[in-house]
Amino acid sequence: MERSDFARLPRHVGIIMDGNGRWAKAHKLAVALGHRQGTENLREIIRHTDDLKIEALSLYAFSTENWRRSPDEVAALMQLILDYFASEIDELDEKHVRITILGDKSGLPEKQRATLLNAEDRTRHNDGLRLNIAINYGGRAELVRAARALAQRAAAGELRPEEIDEDRLAAELWTAGQPDVDLLIRTSGEMRLSNFLLWQCAYAEFVFPEELWPDFSVASYDRALQVYAARDRRFGGRNAQA
Ligand code: IPE
Ligand code: IPE
Ligand code: MG
Repeated sequence: MERSDFARLPRHVGIIMDGNGRWAKAHKLAVALGHRQGTENLREIIRHTDDLKIEALSLYAFSTENWRRSPDEVAALMQLILDYFASEIDELDEKHVRITILGDKSGLPEKQRATLLNAEDRTRHNDGLRLNIAINYGGRAELVRAARALAQRAAAGELRPEEIDEDRLAAELWTAGQPDVDLLIRTSGEMRLSNFLLWQCAYAEFVFPEELWPDFSVASYDRALQVYAARDRRFGGRNAQA
């Protein structure tokens, strides 16, 4: 489907790409292969987001809690980060995609940190789709970091505590300058946020497709976008009754 097929589109879509482990299990494959399969559909999903002229797409790739998984699985995910950027960065840059990493890069191994920094630097001046990839990301960690930055500025006398408001806090988040999430999609039927974009999802619409992430297609994406278009967003107010 194309932009004109939708009555309304979100400005910012968040996706919790969940279900790689269950997909691997269902296909009697090692979990690492489930994660690898989970990068195969990404190109099409990103392309479609770009074609629809949605402004921002945030993908949850690795949470601050995912370090609890086995060393083998963590290593496979870390390798996937390198492979993904090596194969995709040229096309993303050509399409003027601007990449932002959400999460603490300093907590990642050196190679991954360098790859992610390079992706951000190389695409910093692009004016197309804002592609946010959450790696070593936690919503609470993001809020703590913002609170600390504001406290430091107050302690340094640059800011009075009573000047701290929602805009100033939002400006300290990794998503600074971007619109709030309008549509949050989590695949695999799980219905929780798992520490993803806590602040930015304050008024997001949630859609929970049953497909496991590797089975999530452009058609599944269009279905989620149609569900979004039919939602009645009130933001605490009252809309005129139809
Ligand atoms: C999501 O798939 C990807 C990451 C968390 C990195 P999972 O690995 O969580 O898949 P399930 O939930 O075990 O099926
Ligand atoms: C959330 O999925 C993180 C990512 C998709 C990267 P998890 O599979 O880690 O979340 P829980 O543990 O089921 O809440
Ligand atoms: Mg999971």
